[in-house]
Amino acid sequence: MTLIPNQRHLFDIPDDVAYLNTATMGPMPRSAVEAGQVGLARKLRPWTISDADFFADTERVRPLLARLIGAGTDGIAFIPSVSYGLATAAKNLPLAKGQEIVVLEDQFPSNVYTWHAHAAATDATLRTVGTRGNETLSDALLGAIGPDTGLVACANVRWTDGALIDVAAIGRRCREVGAALVLDLTQSCGALHFDVGAVQPDFVAVAGYKWLLGPYATGFLYVAPQHREGAPLEQGWITRAGASNFARLIDYTDAFEPGAQRFDMGERSNFALLPALEAAVRQILDWGVADIEQTLGARNAALADRLGAMGLSCPPAAARGPHYLAALLPSSTPPDLTTRLKGENIHVSRRGDRLRITQHLFTADADIDHFLDRLKAHLAR
Ligand SMILES: Cc1ncc(COP(=O)(O)O)c(C=O)c1O
Repeated sequence: MTLIPNQRHLFDIPDDVAYLNTATMGPMPRSAVEAGQVGLARKLRPWTISDADFFADTERVRPLLARLIGAGTDGIAFIPSVSYGLATAAKNLPLAKGQEIVVLEDQFPSNVYTWHAHAAATDATLRTVGTRGNETLSDALLGAIGPDTGLVACANVRWTDGALIDVAAIGRRCREVGAALVLDLTQSCGALHFDVGAVQPDFVAVAGYKWLLGPYATGFLYVAPQHREGAPLEQGWITRAGASNFARLIDYTDAFEPGAQRFDMGERSNFALLPALEAAVRQILDWGVADIEQTLGARNAALADRLGAMGLSCPPAAARGPHYLAALLPSSTPPDLTTRLKGENIHVSRRGDRLRITQHLFTADADIDHFLDRLKAHLAR
């Protein structure tokens, strides 16, 4: 395991911009934007796009996405958003009347509304789990899972404060009671190690525009082997067996291409976005997720110490995703703190009573110094 040196040269972030907001929108590396521009430009000359090109990009990108989570290529489908992926999961996880869908308090809305609707459609009950006292999110969830649980939907880190959830333990408990496990790894995939073999989730949805440093409206869904014969949301043409023979598309068939491909979104072969996602994910894999985690973990530990010295506490290292930091703000914090900081070229986000500070390998020490200096000044006023 090595600490990765600063990678700012691969991005287009001016020296005077402190961008500490990967959890909202990861900046794309230049290489990814260039690949997207080349892809988009192909539409200037559509005659250069061949039938085979409808399949080439997805074939290259699918195994890269699989590597991010230790999955086989067969388990990966292309989705435009987490809500799309979770809708696919819901469609394939029938529940009986009275069964519970368990979610965590303050979970991201796409991973809550989906289950509201699914509970209403199946006569299941939505149960929202919160913590008491010093209880961890994992303990609260584990305590709530029982014989009535039909499905658990959560993340690996909570998006508001980075609190870590022991998804391997949740997975074990789900299997004990026969419940399905659906994960939204948008706030961790690419920066926190995850292995589908260890966790055994039923579905995993990931949006590509945060920690994967990819374009907006890209993402992927992992589908466990037992669901790969399931029903997709859409009835498109490209996922059907034999779709590469354009001359015979009117030989309609109910058969799909193998694996999770049947769950691919319509027009998945996006000539502009897929090459960009590919370049971003190749960069992540080149750095290595474990090394990214280690590097951001070390940087955040140092930052947490400096915030602590200013009286701002962060969750202890063992209780949070190493790549994620959210400091508790005093009640006297100016309501427009993030706007003020933005005016000084410092980009962070506020979620409730916490300041979410999500640096990445492009973050320079000078960014952190500038941020802390200005934060101190605004909190002192
Ligand atoms: C945890 C989490 N999941 C999902 C999303 C994005 O959801 P969607 O792709 O449905 O827009 C976000 C965006 O902030 C998020 O923080």
